[in-house]
Amino acid sequence: MTVTLREAQAKDLDALVRLEEVAFEGDRFSRRQLWHLINRANAHVLLVETPERRLLGHGILLFRRSSQRVRLYSFCVHPEARGMGIGRQLLESLEQEARRRGGERLTLEVRADNRAALALYRRMGFSLQRWLEDYYEDGCAGWQMEKPLGQTR
Ligand SMILES: CC(C)(COP(=O)(O)OP(=O)(O)OC[C@H]1O[C@@H](n2cnc3c(N)ncnc32)[C@H](O)[C@@H]1OP(=O)(O)O)[C@@H](O)C(=O)NCCC(=O)NCCS
Repeated sequence: MTVTLREAQAKDLDALVRLEEVAFEGDRFSRRQLWHLINRANAHVLLVETPERRLLGHGILLFRRSSQRVRLYSFCVHPEARGMGIGRQLLESLEQEARRRGGERLTLEVRADNRAALALYRRMGFSLQRWLEDYYEDGCAGWQMEKPLGQTR
C-alpha cells in the first residue's frame, strides 16, 4: 500500500482521537493530551496516511534536552491496515527523526501481553531492558525496550 508520512498539526486532532479509540483497548491519550503533544517542541507526532489523507497510524517521540535518549511514547496502526508493513515503515521514519535530532538510543515501554508489538520491536532491533511490574492501568506488566541508533559522531 502506498502511504505518506508527515508531522501532525492541530487540524489532525479529530482523526487522531478517533484512531486512539479504535487502535488501543485502554491507556488512551485524551484529546487534550494529544493537543499538547502536537504543540510541544520536545515531542514529534508523526502520521501515516493514504494518498486520500485517511489516517492509518501515528507514532510519537519525546525528546529531552539533556539526554540523547529518545522515548517512543506512543505508536499504533489502524486495525484495518495492520499486517501490511505500515508499522515497520512508521518506526523506521521515527528512528530517522530521532537520529536527525541527535538521539543515540530509542527506548519504549510495551505491554508484556502485546505479542504483535513485541515481535515488531524485536525484529527492528530492540532488546528487552527491564521488566515493569504492574505498569499499566489494568495491572498488566510491561517491558522496557531499547535500540541503539548508531550515531556516528
Ligand atoms: C503493533 C502494531 C503497531 C504493528 O503494526 P503493523 O502495521 O500491523 O505491523 P507490520 O505489518 O509493519 O509488521 C511488522 C512486523 O511486526 C510483527 N507483527 C506485526 N503484527 C503481528 C502479529 N499480529 N503477530 C505477530 N507479529 C506481528 C512481525 O514481526 C512483522 O514482521 P513480518 O511481517 O515481516 O513478519 C499494530 O499491531 C498496532 O497498532 N497495535 C495496537 C497498538 C499497539 O499495540 N501499539 C504499540 C504500543 S507499545
